Amino acid sequence: MTGTQEKKRVFIKTYGCQMNVYDSDRMADALASDGYEATDKVDDADLVLLNTCHIREKAAEKVYSELGRLRVMKEEAARSGRAVTIGVTGCVAQAEGAEIARRAPVVDLVVGPQSYQHLPQLLRDVAGGKRAVETEFALAEKFERLPAATRERTRARGVTAFLTIQEGCDKFCTFCVVPYTRGAEVSRPVARIVEEAQRLADAGVREVTLLGQNVNAWHGAGTDGREWGLGELLFRLAEIPGLDRLRYTTSHPRDMDDALIAAHRDLPALMPYLHLPVQAGSDRILTAMNRKHKADDYLRLVDRIRATRSDIALSSDFIVGFPGETDEDFEATMRLVETVGYAAAYSFKYSARPGTPAAGRDGHVDERVMSERLQRLQALILDQQTAFNRSRVGTEMDVLFEKAGRRPGQLMGRSPYLQAVLVDGDESRIGTIGRVSITGLGSNSLFGTLAEPVGRTAAISSTVEAIT
Ligand code: 5AD
Ligand code: SF4
Repeated sequence: MTGTQEKKRVFIKTYGCQMNVYDSDRMADALASDGYEATDKVDDADLVLLNTCHIREKAAEKVYSELGRLRVMKEEAARSGRAVTIGVTGCVAQAEGAEIARRAPVVDLVVGPQSYQHLPQLLRDVAGGKRAVETEFALAEKFERLPAATRERTRARGVTAFLTIQEGCDKFCTFCVVPYTRGAEVSRPVARIVEEAQRLADAGVREVTLLGQNVNAWHGAGTDGREWGLGELLFRLAEIPGLDRLRYTTSHPRDMDDALIAAHRDLPALMPYLHLPVQAGSDRILTAMNRKHKADDYLRLVDRIRATRSDIALSSDFIVGFPGETDEDFEATMRLVETVGYAAAYSFKYSARPGTPAAGRDGHVDERVMSERLQRLQALILDQQTAFNRSRVGTEMDVLFEKAGRRPGQLMGRSPYLQAVLVDGDESRIGTIGRVSITGLGSNSLFGTLAEPVGRTAAISSTVEAIT
């Protein structure tokens, strides 16, 4: 935006994890203060950003084929006298850097996840005829300098929001590219997190999910002069009026400390759902993965958490076919899943990531074997998930209504256990918490009917009216 008053439009395509969703919003916010409005139509865009993921598979290849399509679009726009700028951001940008611009001449801009604060300046460089590549590691500066969303923009994004409190990873699991693309762990200071959470609550957000690659490794100087961990931070955030629900993801089993576990018992705002990836059930594989704990440590941790909060819904990530994984190792994973009983879980075939220690190891598992193992694991997980959902039928739960359902007159909300719940109800209830009797089970959701609103709903409704 140099010298022109005309509004420009940005289209951002987000791949991968919740942190990329959060980052895409932050980029949109930074660009909004520079005169860009967001569009969901790629053909209308003056600026297209692909916010990429590098965690698995041929992520980089997907980006290159998308760039092929964008090249055609850019050439067509050029014929009608319109310039379109194409940028690649996210973890592929970080991992590949200038190589992307070399391989795909259509790309004007490559920006890694720690440099989004430079986006407006980099776009000015591009407008001045340069190609811009920025992959510096500058996380503290990113947190400091990216502008916050306005109240209107926050409201438009709904009643739940992500809030990054920690980024980067020092764990170096041998399969994982994150420590290389997101860099070393950095925790945001308490004051900045509270400020952002407060702003979200003031704009009508009722539920905040705290994000970090290792969110439970977050630590910082507390307002009481002591060093805080995530448990203490959650207590502070729960004091913010209007923030009724708190969640956090993703946690490492090694960093679940007593204060955080106790928060699941003592803090009503902290929802009874915990994503606690274990990746595998065999000690041999866990060691080869550098997970820094054994299967039994994980099971004892699960017992401690459940002893503290018996109804907690647990989820995990699993990798099948890690180099050297035998049938016996895989059976240990199946046994661990049987023992824990998950409410949900995500499982993936091992994918060799360039530059990670495991990629260079022997014992790569046959694709067909990986597929069979994945199928068996996913069938078991699906059974457990269905059993967990079925166990809620006939109970009553508090549901935060997030948006209209697919059918007219229908609302979609979330239970404390993160289940999608569909009820008949008026849209004016969006942003409120209602008591719902669960009556049935769909494939990906629960069905229910509204009982009387819970105590806090009246107060929340009036806040929502006041800011509508
Ligand atoms: N191959 C397969 N899955 C992976 N994950 C991370 N790296 C890889 C890889 N190289 C999975 C892990 C992690 C989740 C976000 O992605 O299970 O917890
Ligand atoms: Fe990757 Fe392991 Fe760090 Fe998670 S803890 S981001 S899997 S290196």
